[in-house]
Amino acid sequence: MRKLKLIPKLLFLFTFPLLVHAQNNPVVNTGNIKTVNIAGQKVEFTTEHAYGELTVYSPSIIRVRLDQKKLGNDFSYAVISKPVKTTVSISQNEREISITTDSLQAKITKNPYSITFYTPDGKIISQDEKGLNTSWVADEVTTYKKMQEGERFVGLGEKTGNLDRKGSGYTNWNFDAYGYSTGQDPLYSTIPFYMGIHHGLNYGIFLDNTYQSDFNFGASNNRFSSFGAQGGEMNYYFIYHKHLSDIITSYTSLTGRMNLPPLWSLGYQQNRYTYYPDTEVLRIAQTLREKKIPADGITLDIHYMDQYKLFTWDKSRFPNPLAMNKKLADMGFTTTVIVDPGIKVEKGYQAYESGLKENIFIKYSDSTNYSGQVWPGWCNFPDFTSEKGRSWWRNEVKFFANTGVSGIWNDMNEIATWGNKMPSNVLFNYDGALASHKQAHNVYGLQMARSSYEGAKASMNKRPFILTRAGYAGLQRYTAIWTGDNRPEEDHMLLGVRLLNSLGLSGVPFTGMDIGGFIGTPSNSLFARWIQIGAFNPYFRNHAAVNTQSSEPWTHGEEVLEISRNYINLRYKLMPYLYSTFFEATQNGLPVMRTLAIDYTFDAKVFDTSFQNQYLFGKAFMVLPFESTKEFGNAYFPKGLWYDLYTDEVQQGETEKILRLSKNKLPVYVKESSIVPMQSLVQSTQEKPTDTLVLHIYKGQLNNSFVYYEDDGQSYNYEKGDFYKRKISYDAVKHNVTFEKAEGNFKSKFNQLKLVFHGFSTDAQLNNGQNIKDEMNSFLAPISKFDPQGTANPVEGAKVKSITLGNTPAQFVITY
Ligand code: NOJ
Repeated sequence: MRKLKLIPKLLFLFTFPLLVHAQNNPVVNTGNIKTVNIAGQKVEFTTEHAYGELTVYSPSIIRVRLDQKKLGNDFSYAVISKPVKTTVSISQNEREISITTDSLQAKITKNPYSITFYTPDGKIISQDEKGLNTSWVADEVTTYKKMQEGERFVGLGEKTGNLDRKGSGYTNWNFDAYGYSTGQDPLYSTIPFYMGIHHGLNYGIFLDNTYQSDFNFGASNNRFSSFGAQGGEMNYYFIYHKHLSDIITSYTSLTGRMNLPPLWSLGYQQNRYTYYPDTEVLRIAQTLREKKIPADGITLDIHYMDQYKLFTWDKSRFPNPLAMNKKLADMGFTTTVIVDPGIKVEKGYQAYESGLKENIFIKYSDSTNYSGQVWPGWCNFPDFTSEKGRSWWRNEVKFFANTGVSGIWNDMNEIATWGNKMPSNVLFNYDGALASHKQAHNVYGLQMARSSYEGAKASMNKRPFILTRAGYAGLQRYTAIWTGDNRPEEDHMLLGVRLLNSLGLSGVPFTGMDIGGFIGTPSNSLFARWIQIGAFNPYFRNHAAVNTQSSEPWTHGEEVLEISRNYINLRYKLMPYLYSTFFEATQNGLPVMRTLAIDYTFDAKVFDTSFQNQYLFGKAFMVLPFESTKEFGNAYFPKGLWYDLYTDEVQQGETEKILRLSKNKLPVYVKESSIVPMQSLVQSTQEKPTDTLVLHIYKGQLNNSFVYYEDDGQSYNYEKGDFYKRKISYDAVKHNVTFEKAEGNFKSKFNQLKLVFHGFSTDAQLNNGQNIKDEMNSFLAPISKFDPQGTANPVEGAKVKSITLGNTPAQFVITY
């Protein structure tokens, strides 16, 4: 009897937790699909707890949206393209919905909702983790994907840590990370796009949600990778291609590509917090010229302003900025100035009064302007998420064009304020869909850079250069980005390389870091190594904080000066190669600085922490950055043949090698079959090189091509056809180099073509029967001066052939 009485009690005890679980569960899952509507390339559905939509954007891109409420206004600051008309078959039965394009399949299981992506031949690329799928905890939404065996993760923009992000978790919340540590997260910008790699497959996921977002690549769990945000919809794009590079191209078809930069912005930029007064700025420019250090840019930090007030010049330090900028221009320099978003609250100050009048400042929910403290003291902040705010800024920015400035450097736009704790109840227009700080925070910097770009473009009558610290996915459409307040430390330099490589994976080709480290003074050898690496960075700017030792190339002694000059010289000689590489980025979104993971995705070695910093600079150069303190470096050569840049010595691929390092030489290798156009040395991009384009051709077993591109480097006339574009192909089977017909109306500045053949046998003949003439190759002669073993130059066995190119439109072929 007693036993019988116990049974109901025990039953209660066992079922009670389950009941609680069902009724008070703070985690809400999507649940089972209840209704389905197929409309063209789209599937709309409802589940027990959510509304969903799947749209085919292209054969390789599928977008998924889920929300607990009806799907809202479809607006994005990142995505600029609409779905492409695609052949797709969509069908359903009781259990599932199938979506099939030529390149990708998706299957949505109905009970409960769960999605799996497959290759056309049925291999699983990515699948929701069973039982977790997509769920909400209050407003926070997260999608959980099954962690595939051996899965790796790359990308996510400006994130610290390893190239392979497996085992790490990250938060996106743009942050003023002064002097960040090498593992700190988050930093200044947000790009919620990453790529997963496993079983010889790779895919991309872009979470387009501007709230604080969180990514987990197996941190503290062995079950899933996940991505989610603190509010808004689950809204992601799934991209599948066989090659990682094509995923980047597809991602940038959604979020846009960079515009052609002004040529001067690819030159060396000398910067400091801050050069003043004007005589000091001119002295720096003059010294660069005297010491024969090529340079194009001088950048002015906050002290050019009158008490840090935007759109002013300090009259005693810069009495005549236009005249100063004119003098700089006459010396071949272009000026960039810093701007911060904070407008000083001060009666009678023009920008403040006009901002008040136009009512463009962000406000608390009770309609009073939000004030935060930054350099000028208490400030109000323009609402760049409103057209009215952007238009106000565009108009203010004319000020710079009027004073002869061509570059705008957007700083502190996370928004950074003293205390870094902006309240959530500050409101933003968000282009008509009023948003709280929580939703608008991560796009503020992007919209500021956009406003600067649009204003500068309209007022400067030529391509402006825009730089930003904060940003969101798609920033590449308007601006370059740099990685903020780094430190003069060896591991910071290498972290910087990884940050730039990761930004490149995430659709941003124009990137840079403060060469030499911002906070403090680097050792001589660190400075030298950083300059060497900087010569192989897309944006090449030296910068140092206030109250640190001045950090021009001559401040670290004669030897470092010489090393700096050598590598800056090399950068300028490589300008035709670099500009063509930037042109490529405008066409397909591929970065200028490419982690080896892009071309050698399935080679485990490239993710090894010993080799993860190696990268390609454009298609041809493999750069091996090592700490300046090391005497030996462990290098990995991926598949193929690699030529030592300085000696032409050939290195077999798929091998590791211990390299002897020297302070004077950054290890750089050239990939077999490469085509590298170079020019004579100039002191600024405004100086005309000689009329000979030197084309270096490296023998190899691969077919390869290079699109040589040239235009006036400053105007938008290329849009009307004023460019010179020529595809040059290397055919390893037919043994020839083909120059295709030149396209465009621009007259190339080069009239002569000099071909330098590397790795070819001395008796190789050209098609006209002429023996390749031996000539000294002046490729990198000055560097040999510092090579301890004296092996650098001249390159033995490099062969030279000169051709009068004229501007012949005809295709021509050289056989060897
Ligand atoms: C912070 C920026 O990151 C740094 O580069 C700049 O020098 C200072 N602000 C002063 O404007």
